[in-house]
Amino acid sequence: MRLVFALVVALAACSPAPAPPGSPLGLPALAVPEDNPQTAPKVALGRKLFFDRRLSPNNTMSCAMCHVPEQGFTAHELATSVGVEGRSVRRNAPTLLNVAWQERLFHDGREFSLEDQVWGPLLAGNEMGNPSIGFVIERLRGLEDYRGLFEAAFGGRGVSGERLGRAIAAYERTLVAGASRFDRWRYGGEANALSETERRGFELFSSKARCAACHALGAKHALFTDHGFHNTGVGWRRTFETAEHTRVEIAPGVHAELDRRTVESFSEPPAKDLGRYEITLEPKDRWAYKTPSLRNVALTAPYMHDGSLPTLEAVIEFYDRGGLDNPGKSPLLAPLGLSPQDKAALAAFLRALTGAGIEVLVAEARATPIGQ
Ligand code: HEC
Ligand code: HEC
Repeated sequence: MRLVFALVVALAACSPAPAPPGSPLGLPALAVPEDNPQTAPKVALGRKLFFDRRLSPNNTMSCAMCHVPEQGFTAHELATSVGVEGRSVRRNAPTLLNVAWQERLFHDGREFSLEDQVWGPLLAGNEMGNPSIGFVIERLRGLEDYRGLFEAAFGGRGVSGERLGRAIAAYERTLVAGASRFDRWRYGGEANALSETERRGFELFSSKARCAACHALGAKHALFTDHGFHNTGVGWRRTFETAEHTRVEIAPGVHAELDRRTVESFSEPPAKDLGRYEITLEPKDRWAYKTPSLRNVALTAPYMHDGSLPTLEAVIEFYDRGGLDNPGKSPLLAPLGLSPQDKAALAAFLRALTGAGIEVLVAEARATPIGQ
């Protein structure tokens, strides 16, 4: 651990270099698959598909219902998502901002490409609820307003499952938000882009608070993730929570403490979630989840794979206690002994990671009405 720690400090001390051309300050070059180049007609088609509620059998669910542009491409009111016919999903919807740089997709890393990922939510019975790939394709073939759009985007070839994935992936790769105040300070040479408190927050982030051991950053750019999986105790708690009372949301933003048995009498018990273990079946991966990027994190509450932490302050308290002890907890987590000033500085730093131009992405997202 000392080695990781020394590396983090060394990286933090490296002098910044200019970003590669074409990507916003602080982000590495965008890697676009060779067989799916970004073109304007394809991105426009992908955007239309992303917002189209006719991609669910009863015309209620689109991708954007859970990845809401105005809410940082996630959903603020729901700790865990709700899909077609109000069915509950066991996890929190991650932001799609900068998703192009995710090496593995989903909290457990079970998917590898944006092109393939789309079929997860399209076919999940508790998300968009389509019975089959063919069902979605037939439906799109029958929609008047899609006539010619696939052909225009794919050199004359019409609707197919593969091309649907490619179009949505191309749109998702436009959801880029870098050049935050932090980037301008660290990679752009703007000494005053961060306040003294925010700079102190970054110092803590990369030293005493150890955050950068997992939310890693480099000399030329920062994704704030090691692309790895770690057990912080959040998943473990969800499985073994035995508290008599539980906090439930009775209306958007309104919470109440209720007796657990009362809650379980009118809702399903929380679904089991073993994290990365479900994919690898390796005991060491039990309750391990993907390290999320922290870019734009001020816009993407609530936090963690189950949305159980409502604010950045709650997240910092969680880490200050060393996460939640359990047999497989990451050795990188231990009580930090942060002062109230330290905690405030860390929170201020995290809030300086909001990228530029997100308003433009939101405006573009809603530029033309879709379907209906
Ligand atoms: C019912 C809500 C819901 C809908 C609808 C939905 N998603 Fe998601 N999305 C989620 C949740 C929850 C996760 C995390 C699931 C997991 O980790 O198992 C997720 C994960 C993702 C990820 C992985 C991101 C990452 O960083 O790992 C991508 C990409 C994504 N969704 C894109 C889409 C697309 C494209 C659509 C439409 C075809 C869509 N989603 C529809 C809730 C939803
Ligand atoms: C051992 C590796 C590790 C360390 C050290 C670590 N994190 Fe994390 N962090 C994670 C993982 C893994 C998750 C996702 C957990 C989950 O989904 O249940 C996460 C989630 C988060 C989230 C929630 C992001 C979201 O979109 O839901 C924030 C904020 C965060 N960490 C900030 C920090 C800060 C601040 C520190 C230092 C005090 C820190 N982390 C230290 C691995 C780490």
